[in-house]
Amino acid sequence: MRLERVPSETGAILYDPRRLAHPDAVQFDPARGGHAGAAVRAASGRGSAWFLDPIVPDGPALALRHYRRGGLIARFVQDRYLWQGEEATRCFRELRLLAQLESLGLPAARPVGAFYQRVGWLTYRAALLTVRVSGARPLSSQFDVVRSEIWHRVGATVAAFHTAGICHADLNAHNILIDHSDAVHLIDFDRGSVRVPGSWMGSNLQRLSRSLVKLGGPSPTSQAWQALLDGYDEARRAPFR
Ligand SMILES: Nc1ncnc2c1ncn2[C@@H]1O[C@H](COP(=O)(O)OP(=O)(O)O)[C@@H](O)[C@H]1O
Ligand SMILES: [Mg+2]
Repeated sequence: MRLERVPSETGAILYDPRRLAHPDAVQFDPARGGHAGAAVRAASGRGSAWFLDPIVPDGPALALRHYRRGGLIARFVQDRYLWQGEEATRCFRELRLLAQLESLGLPAARPVGAFYQRVGWLTYRAALLTVRVSGARPLSSQFDVVRSEIWHRVGATVAAFHTAGICHADLNAHNILIDHSDAVHLIDFDRGSVRVPGSWMGSNLQRLSRSLVKLGGPSPTSQAWQALLDGYDEARRAPFR
């Protein structure tokens, strides 16, 4: 599906016309509405994600994220990024990548819209709307209940992205969601990229392992981590599914 673009007062919106018939900057602002009901803050992540009611009556529930900086620089410029042209904005890049993931049939959040707003000549702010993965909970909130079979599936899911050359720049236990039918979805493709096979694949897995340890999940010597690696290896060896 082709994404479409409309200019807004100080920026532009890139959107999937199947999911957003009347794109408007208001839809990216949790405070101003543009949605039927109130925005509910998502518990995990950097604290600038919200869950929103559908924009159209039969539409899907949505997740809205405002891009925020991490680390030391966040103390100076919380939500502003250096302007390097529209296609280089964090939100346009992520939306285009999500559209590619959807066309590949990979389990990620489905793209709805991306909005940037220029702030002066040098910087911009950005926001992203995706379809909310329904009934999903982050892996990070359920280490105690996740069975070996699901760890295996998490590994197989990461492998499917890697086989398609998709590098997740921040693969951690908050960015892996398990839905009510125990299917695994990856979210948060900020700075993700399509790459040729390489050492980044192992680095993705190492980052995930560090995140599990940091959040009190399975250690690299646990059965759970072994199940994840088995799932990964089996899926990587299997012919394209
Ligand atoms: N499409 C989605 N479906 C369900 N939950 C989501 C979705 N997008 C974001 N979330 C929730 O919001 C949190 C923060 O979003 P995320 O995209 O990871 O941004 P960040 O980590 O930069 O704050 C996630 O950890 C998840 O709980
Ligand atoms: Mg995240």
